Amino acid sequence: MSQAIEIMPLTLTIQGGVDKDGHSDAVSEIEIARGEIIGIVGPTGSGKSTLIADIEQFALGDTPSGRRILINGLEPAGEMRSNPRKKLVAQLSQNMHFLADMSVEEFLKMHAKSRGKDPGLADKVIALANTLTGEPVNPAFQLTILSGGQSRALMVADIAVISDSPIVLIDEIENAGIKKQEALRLLAGEGKIVVVVTHDPMLALMASRRIVMKNGGMTKVISTNEDEQRVFKDVERMDGWLTSLRETIRQGEVVA
Ligand SMILES: Nc1ncnc2c1ncn2[C@@H]1O[C@H](COP(=O)(O)OP(=O)(O)OP(=O)(O)O)[C@@H](O)[C@H]1O
Ligand SMILES: [Mg+2]
Repeated sequence: MSQAIEIMPLTLTIQGGVDKDGHSDAVSEIEIARGEIIGIVGPTGSGKSTLIADIEQFALGDTPSGRRILINGLEPAGEMRSNPRKKLVAQLSQNMHFLADMSVEEFLKMHAKSRGKDPGLADKVIALANTLTGEPVNPAFQLTILSGGQSRALMVADIAVISDSPIVLIDEIENAGIKKQEALRLLAGEGKIVVVVTHDPMLALMASRRIVMKNGGMTKVISTNEDEQRVFKDVERMDGWLTSLRETIRQGEVVA
């Protein structure tokens, strides 16, 4: 069934609600299609995580914002909301901890089975995670000992390989301690809809549009223009340079 989800057309519509003072969202409706990365920006407390949560729960006017989320123009059916094998949404949240007392391999095999997938995919997830983090994850590691970077890398790879939900929500990946740009590219691959909260210039400019939040409301949508795309190229080069400097310092070497 997940194959069917992968190829079917899909749009995500956010219908505006109200901000913290009960004023209507200036953005009354926004439609997002497969393959688009869309950013959410705004100061602390402006409602970014709340918007992500509205999407995650498929809000139907029943959250504090009063927003509505439509899939292919319709209210999602009950089964889409509850059946994990049909789950349309995967989320990488701001705070993430694995609490289960089991090994990385056991956990991934269990997750694959719960999704009706081949447990052998666990190896693929670990290999992919290890391309995103500087500290390799061993299949035998207990989940509870993983570092922040290792947990994030594993979650990203797990979403890409096992969950394969067509809608991916990311609440701040920049401090995750992983190769953030590669992680975003990986998650956006294969025609997904990616909604990412970020102020990292590189990640924000990878998005084709960004929703600007203020006082709990969606105030405007900015489309990335050609000037911004030029800046993106510069930022990408700068980021590559910073990454190599960071690696030199991590390895205990002197920066030349
Ligand atoms: N539209 C809204 N209506 C009512 N309350 C809201 C609305 N949007 C946000 N809030 C409330 O405002 C507070 C801050 O919102 P939120 O956590 O989403 O901000 P944020 O932009 O994610 O902040 P941070 O950058 O610190 O993560 C929360 O208590 C949330 O419930
Ligand atoms: Mg937040």
